[in-house]
Amino acid sequence: MADRQGSYFTVRERFENKSRDAMAAAEARQKEVDALSPELKKIDGMLNATGLRLFEQAMGGKEGLEKRVEALRKENERLLKRKAKLLKALGYPEDYTDVRYECEKCRDTGFIGAKMCDCFRKALAKEALENSGLGRLTENQSFDTFNFSYCSENTDTLRNMKLVYDKCLEYAETFGEDDENLLLIGGTGLGKTHLSTSIAKKVIEKGYKVIYESAQKLISDFEKEHFRNLDTDTDRFFDCDLLIIDDLGTEMKTEFSVSCVYNVINSRLNERKPMIINTNLSQKELRERYADRITSRLFGAFSIMVFKGQDVRQKILH
Ligand SMILES: Nc1ncnc2c1ncn2[C@@H]1O[C@H](COP(=O)(O)OP(=O)(O)OP(=O)(O)O)[C@@H](O)[C@H]1O
Ligand SMILES: [Mg+2]
Ligand SMILES: [Zn+2]
Repeated sequence: MADRQGSYFTVRERFENKSRDAMAAAEARQKEVDALSPELKKIDGMLNATGLRLFEQAMGGKEGLEKRVEALRKENERLLKRKAKLLKALGYPEDYTDVRYECEKCRDTGFIGAKMCDCFRKALAKEALENSGLGRLTENQSFDTFNFSYCSENTDTLRNMKLVYDKCLEYAETFGEDDENLLLIGGTGLGKTHLSTSIAKKVIEKGYKVIYESAQKLISDFEKEHFRNLDTDTDRFFDCDLLIIDDLGTEMKTEFSVSCVYNVINSRLNERKPMIINTNLSQKELRERYADRITSRLFGAFSIMVFKGQDVRQKILH
């Protein structure tokens, strides 16, 4: 299930506040200048009552309505001109009391008629990104910024990296249809985090709820909840559409941590909710560290992608 709803209501509320604040600020500026000029105050009073005056005209019957409305429009035009002059004389810009919207296109409502405004769509994507735990990781890490020249020390490494990249890209692009679980294995600095955050970003843009967390943080959230009774929202590990666990194997190994890892993996597998797990450990090391009930699932229900090559972090530095 996509996470459009949760983010949608949060963003919707933010927009409502935004347009309300913009109007309140304009009202405050109007009060400020009205206090300086009785004529301006009178004009503003009339302009503010435009809606009411229109309504009165409409109630006065259909006969000659168009003319009366036109007269009202002309009158308003004259008032606006006079107002601009008065503001200028007082040393204010002409548009001082206009409502200042962040987005003129939708007047901060997020919608143009029934159509969602681009600014609202952007805000939705940003909100989902912020809730994902990815933080600033996706700023520099995307499929576009992945550079194959870092993995070209030999043809085998390059060919392997291209296969991995293509698979990750396809995974992201077709997310939502019969998704697999991915296990990204390989040494440090080879792009596991880079490619998994690239996937996360694309999947979030499609409107899915993605949670990205390091294994350490995942365990510490469970610990806080279990031992200290704190609310750390561990439900998110179970109910998100895609869970990415980074650096599996760097968490402290305790009976508790192993059972948390097992629970998350097992219940997501049962519910057919996809996961991506990154690890520095080899298959042998994983076997040694985790009980069979975990590794049999990792090796049975995950597509394993092995990252090869030399640490890109070092290459970037040199
Ligand atoms: N092919 C690449 N093109 C561009 N940048 C890359 C590439 N591979 C890795 N990087 C960058 O190098 C740094 C290390 O990569 P990343 O964090 O993805 O490694 P990792 O495999 O997750 O390593 P670790 O196991 O230590 O977590 C990151 O800043 C990443 O953006
Ligand atoms: Mg990493
Ligand atoms: Zn807008």
